[in-house]
Amino acid sequence: MRIFLMAVLASLVGVSGAETPAAGTIHADQPGAKIDRHIYGQFAEHLGHGIEAGVWVGESSAIPNTRGLRNDVIAALRELHVPVVRWPGGCFADEYHWRDGIGPRASRPTTLNTNWGGVPETNAFGTHEFMDFVQLIGADAYINGNVGTGSPREMAEWLQYLTSDKPTALSAERARNGHPEPWKVAYFAVGNETWGCGGNMSPQYYLDVFRQYATFLKTPEGARPQIIASGGHDEDTSWSELLTAKAGLDLSAVTFHYYTIPGENWRNKGPAIGFGEDQWISTLAHTLKMDDFIRANAAGMDKSDPGKRVAFDVDEWGTWYDTEPGREPGFLFQQNSLRDAVVAAVNFNIFHRHADRVRMANIAQMVNVLQAMILTDGPKMLLTPTYHVFHMFRPFQDATLLPTDFEAPAYRLGATSVPGVSVSAARTTTGEIAVALVNLDPHKAAPISLSIAGARVRTVKGEILTAAALDAHNTFESPDAVKPSRFNGAALEEGRLSVTLPAKSVVVLSLR
Ligand code: AHR
Repeated sequence: MRIFLMAVLASLVGVSGAETPAAGTIHADQPGAKIDRHIYGQFAEHLGHGIEAGVWVGESSAIPNTRGLRNDVIAALRELHVPVVRWPGGCFADEYHWRDGIGPRASRPTTLNTNWGGVPETNAFGTHEFMDFVQLIGADAYINGNVGTGSPREMAEWLQYLTSDKPTALSAERARNGHPEPWKVAYFAVGNETWGCGGNMSPQYYLDVFRQYATFLKTPEGARPQIIASGGHDEDTSWSELLTAKAGLDLSAVTFHYYTIPGENWRNKGPAIGFGEDQWISTLAHTLKMDDFIRANAAGMDKSDPGKRVAFDVDEWGTWYDTEPGREPGFLFQQNSLRDAVVAAVNFNIFHRHADRVRMANIAQMVNVLQAMILTDGPKMLLTPTYHVFHMFRPFQDATLLPTDFEAPAYRLGATSVPGVSVSAARTTTGEIAVALVNLDPHKAAPISLSIAGARVRTVKGEILTAAALDAHNTFESPDAVKPSRFNGAALEEGRLSVTLPAKSVVVLSLR
């Protein structure tokens, strides 16, 4: 809030951003909520080459694979410490029938992916392949059930097939299909975007649908996933407030979706690369709304759940640009630039600040779709600037939030004004203090001074991600054009941290 006020004041009185130093205090003496590692989660939908070719190539592929799953992609995701993957959609989930994706692959039906390009779906990647994949990358499974075109019975049987430890027809079928042991499913959602592609329901109607479906989601003792209700989006707080108050004790979380687009409407979002500073600042101004949206939803949830039992899970977020000319529009492939890296870091700092309510987030999407970590082209693979930011922020997984008082000058262009610097800090699970700093201003370095209350720190080291161009990005010809490097711009003097934060950069520091 104080950062926001500074930005507003600066814009009102016409103070130049360069004249006000960014300064504040990290309160190591007032540890806050745990930053659940699941806010670093991923989302993988049957959409374009998100799974087909991006993750799954099949056992007979010339691309090196483990049981059909790309080895290069698995290795990159393991390195990222991906905590959770949401699957199979998205809009796809509400037309997905799990029985189409089990049994011998040659016998699986080819269905139509009506949401994403109207292409045939081979169902080669189904329940067993997904569970194999998450186990290979060391992530938890988040399965999104079908409400829109499914039934309570279909959903209940899917969860039983996954988790049953009794000698039933379903567990025998699972064993015949190659997995005698029950799996652990960490999260299970009842529908997706039920206000839209998941059935165009009202919150009141979905409330009853959720209660009906959740009634039949049964698992062995101790194997119950967190049961998640499909919530609202953008400004709409009615879903989270109603579901938290009325869905019942079985509800673990309500979801929320917010996509960042540079433009003012969905018909004219703006390109992923080749944009000007006007689109840089509008993207950042739009992404910062995440903070307001979480705050507003959390306030509504607090009315019936002041103890914050129910989580507010942002299970779709990220940038969404216009499709590149010449590409299938339904495949949502987009390049990923330094701007996306800054967007990711700003959102992480927001999620950290709301760690008491936001306990999972899933960026859309993991490979080749929207704000991806990884792009592939046949056997080639590259890591995007967003991947590198996820990697840099790994110390925040399961760390304890350290509240920060911080004032920064505004970065302004025309009528748009945003706080020039975003910050968050946490005590990591290994005892260091991690500090994340983002300079949103593409022109000016930001001198920053931070005192640390309640901790004696002697050493600082860190990493930086920056580049010369606003839209700097990695290509298959030049895959390391944007990558992190060692950061030498931080110093400690009598326990006070001084940083010169280069323009348009993301820095993560480790203080001991
Ligand atoms: O991530 C792409 C789509 O965006 C998802 O399928 C849907 O849930 C959302 O509208």
